[in-house]
Amino acid sequence: MAEVVIVPDRAAAGALVADEIASLIQADPEVVLGLATGSTPLPVYQALPARLGGMDVSRVRGFALDEYVGIDPTHPQSYRNVILREVVEPLGLDPRRIRTPDGAVDGAEHAGADYERAIADAGGVELQILGIGTDGHIGFNEPGSSFASLTRVKTLTEQTRRDNARFFDSIDQVPMHCITQGLGTILRARHLVLLAFGQRKAEAVAGAVEGPLTASLPGSAIQLHPRVSVVVDEAAASRL
Ligand code: GLP
Repeated sequence: MAEVVIVPDRAAAGALVADEIASLIQADPEVVLGLATGSTPLPVYQALPARLGGMDVSRVRGFALDEYVGIDPTHPQSYRNVILREVVEPLGLDPRRIRTPDGAVDGAEHAGADYERAIADAGGVELQILGIGTDGHIGFNEPGSSFASLTRVKTLTEQTRRDNARFFDSIDQVPMHCITQGLGTILRARHLVLLAFGQRKAEAVAGAVEGPLTASLPGSAIQLHPRVSVVVDEAAASRL
């Protein structure tokens, strides 16, 4: 059973998770972090600089969960760019040590296997930050994703494209495909920390934490993991 921590607000969640990340970096300056995009992990990234103080973060390694396919890496909404802007630059990490899946159309065939190899070569992810979609997706593993899936190209659902259209000029510009770590990849991380805030996540959180294990709610895969922390506000916890 996941450890569920109910916090008063996003800032408290950010502080809690940032404290744990800072301790991990202190214990191992080459720690491998699993990074997530979306609005949910932002309080963690925002709380980190104050906690890192003068710590040496130049050797910290990281792997992002997912990327759009066919988007230019310099596009402001490519997850490569989002991770650089929201995590790497503010924290002063070394961009060469922070990987995102390769979303180039050309290499898509091999990109999944390459990414899996890179994570394994790094010794695996120590702490994986996760958000959750309103339909229960984690990373870009949409409903129907296998619990054993590894990094691969997926088609985005209409719902997710609509949800993410706010980041683009129009829905037509939201890519049709993505490359995402699989549920099997995510489950290999040694500690999963799933964050969720607000009423609109309540159902997905309840399904993930205590619903049946089902590919219809990909987040329920976390129940297969021995070490999961779910950090939520009252509203996101309201259906538990
Ligand atoms: C996107 C990301 C997910 C994220 C989800 C929720 O689809 N690929 O990793 O968890 O959105 O986003 P938000 O945190 O903004 O609610």
